Amino acid sequence: MKAIAVSPAKVILFGEHFVVSGNSAISMTIDLPTTVTVEPLKGDEIQIRSEDLDLEAAFSPTGQILQGAGPNAESTLRPIFEVADFTLKKLNQLGLGLKIAVKSRVPIGMGLGSSAATAVATVSALTTLLGWPLSREEVFDAAYSLEKMVHGHPSGVDQATVTYGGLISYRSGKVEATLQVTKPPLLIIGNTGKRRSTGEFVGRVTRLRETEPKVYGRIASEAQEISDRAFDALRNGPPETLGPLMNENQRLLESVGVSSPDLEKLIAAARSAGALGAKLTGGGGGGCMIAAVGKTTHAGVSRAIQEAGGQVLPSEFVTHGVQTALHED
Ligand code: PMV
Repeated sequence: MKAIAVSPAKVILFGEHFVVSGNSAISMTIDLPTTVTVEPLKGDEIQIRSEDLDLEAAFSPTGQILQGAGPNAESTLRPIFEVADFTLKKLNQLGLGLKIAVKSRVPIGMGLGSSAATAVATVSALTTLLGWPLSREEVFDAAYSLEKMVHGHPSGVDQATVTYGGLISYRSGKVEATLQVTKPPLLIIGNTGKRRSTGEFVGRVTRLRETEPKVYGRIASEAQEISDRAFDALRNGPPETLGPLMNENQRLLESVGVSSPDLEKLIAAARSAGALGAKLTGGGGGGCMIAAVGKTTHAGVSRAIQEAGGQVLPSEFVTHGVQTALHED
């Protein structure tokens, strides 16, 4: 018997960072799957394997590393142990042996929600295997609580997006609205390839909020206005208005210090090649940017991002969140 959960990845279209202090963010799921397979194992070890990174580690129920194979196996795989441990404790099943395999197409630390996708899929697969399949709300609550234990003040937007799926507006721990769009915005995702820590950049914005509350307040209310206008444009059109709103959002993200020269190089290349608008997505400081394009500019913008040194990633919209199934074998 094994349970398999597949989670999509996410991009934030508007409102990252400002969502941490209570603004709305607009985000959507994309077709870059993370698959987590969980099987019971004799004994009490939790064995974890990352297929893409070719890493393996075994942990005792108290979290001691028993065995590790591959560079940084323990530090890379421990967050997955923490998710399993948290879930087992919730279900009063501590001491159960497990074999967990993770396979993901999401680049790590690039702002596309790789850790949220792994956490959400692990919680879903494990609870399904143990006969306690959770509602989406419960999966989100578990993944969000875990993220709070690890990162202090996350907004939960990543966990909500990949749990519920689709194009959503998220605020203060809740999905405010799911936009039933037939045609999602046409996007190109460009990866700078520069891995960074979201926590560091969230900390930067928090410091600005604490030391310059008035300045921050003005920027955040402008950001909220942009998210509101973008929500309206996504619902009622015209889609072209999204481009200028993305550019305005990027300007605000630059003003709070979370952009980077690598991101700005790709953003400038996209705009020069005819993108409707472009901005960073996620935590910033590196990672990925997005460009809104029309059908005729798609190929040119994609080429321009690559020529500027970026890697273009698949950005196909998917409407579903995490999906889980039990397999008898
Ligand atoms: O973790 P990332 O880089 O995919 O982005 C998270 C979005 C932030 O708004 C920067 C942080 C948060 O908790 O909402």
